[in-house]
Amino acid sequence: MLDHGQAPPLTSEPPKAAHPLLRRKPVEQMVAEGGQGEGGSLRRTLTMWQLTMISIGATLGTGIFVVLGTATPKAGPAVTISFVIAGLTALFSALSYAELAGSVPVSGSSYSYSYATMGELVAWVCGWCLVLEYGVSVAAVAVGWGEYLNELLDGTIGLTIPQSLSAPFGEDGGYINLPALVVVLLAMVFLMRGAKESARINSVMVGVKIVTLLLFIGIGFMGIKAGNYAPLAPLGITGISAGAATLFFSYIGFDAASTAGEEAQNPKRDLPRAIMLSLFIVTVLYVLVAFVAVGAMPWQDFEGTEAALAQIMTDVSGHTFWGVVLAAGAVVAIASVVFAVLYGQTRILFAMSRDGLVPKVFAKVHPKTGAPRANVVIVSLFCGALAAFIPLGKLADATSIGTLFAFGLVNVAVVILRRTRPDMPRTFKVALFPLTPILGLLACGYMMFSLDTATWIVFGGWMAAGLVFYFLYGIRRSRLATAEPAAAEK
Ligand code: ALA
Repeated sequence: MLDHGQAPPLTSEPPKAAHPLLRRKPVEQMVAEGGQGEGGSLRRTLTMWQLTMISIGATLGTGIFVVLGTATPKAGPAVTISFVIAGLTALFSALSYAELAGSVPVSGSSYSYSYATMGELVAWVCGWCLVLEYGVSVAAVAVGWGEYLNELLDGTIGLTIPQSLSAPFGEDGGYINLPALVVVLLAMVFLMRGAKESARINSVMVGVKIVTLLLFIGIGFMGIKAGNYAPLAPLGITGISAGAATLFFSYIGFDAASTAGEEAQNPKRDLPRAIMLSLFIVTVLYVLVAFVAVGAMPWQDFEGTEAALAQIMTDVSGHTFWGVVLAAGAVVAIASVVFAVLYGQTRILFAMSRDGLVPKVFAKVHPKTGAPRANVVIVSLFCGALAAFIPLGKLADATSIGTLFAFGLVNVAVVILRRTRPDMPRTFKVALFPLTPILGLLACGYMMFSLDTATWIVFGGWMAAGLVFYFLYGIRRSRLATAEPAAAEK
């Protein structure tokens, strides 16, 4: 067992080095390196509220504004219960995230937690899954944003962006998805300013989306007809759980605060709070919005209605104006998901780069802004190009598996760290340990196995590509490979 805050002493006979694939990075070393990049450091500026806003920013978007419309025909008015079930599934993993974020408050999120507990290979696999959860999903969300923008423009000023400029090459006669590229590039420009500025912009966008949903709840409430709730679950338990599986997507992103560990003012105290608070706020909003939505519009009418919430606003108020306000709020909301998720991806790569598993350029910090600017540019151009030119298809579906896999690992990591480091100070502890992380792991496994075979095949291909990269690059460049034998925990 290592002493807190101290490098392990070198004995006259150095301990035998762990197998490269199993070498672990000591928690103390991770924390001591916090913020340090190539040529500069990240800055600790983020408050608890800003961290909460980062998680809400990454979470609240397409799920509630768009996916609710596809989940309601599956579950009926009981879609409200589907939201609660999906939220509970997220809660098990969120508790594990909160415990680890409070004890290992660095920027790599589950990648770093895996590195400290399960070794380098698992950490790499986790980091590679996070690229699906963050990087690829940014592209997918940006594509959805473009579609929503097109609807808004069409519904307000009768302008439609031509197909050739709003679909990727080879899909529906498209050449480039310009709106998707634009939203990613806009996010890039803001992210270049550093964490403090980024957090301010993010908080404004999150404010807009929360106000939009509160407006919806207020106006939609007046249109509720009790008859719309009966029967509550026309498609039974099967329908409710199908709805919950679809809606799990709407909770992805609560972990984003855990990518800001090295820019938080008081990470040990604030990260667990931010993760739990953001999950609480989005769950309450989701349940209220769903309750009002199915009360104001018969559940069968959701089928085929593209922008259900905007439609309800227009119908209940009798003015298209309110529908347009809702649609405009959705455009801001989904853009803010792009922004916050892109932020998270840059910080995860920052941590991986500092460990030597991806090129050093990702850990370069700009001396004036404290932002990893080169990282932001590379990630944004990559995600922007993915959104603009590549039909994402099944790759976008695979983001859910990647996310669930990373969540599953966090539930395992929390158990391992309790066993290997029982004495470590923890600012937040999972309740009902070890039942909660075990349930979290089972819930993630169950959801993963309910996804279709084609998605699994794409996921398998993605993981294979990641392993090739690791064995060609990371395994030899890992900083633990070149460190003193005692620098890595056995
Ligand atoms: N949870 C995020 C959204 O709903 C991914 O857009």
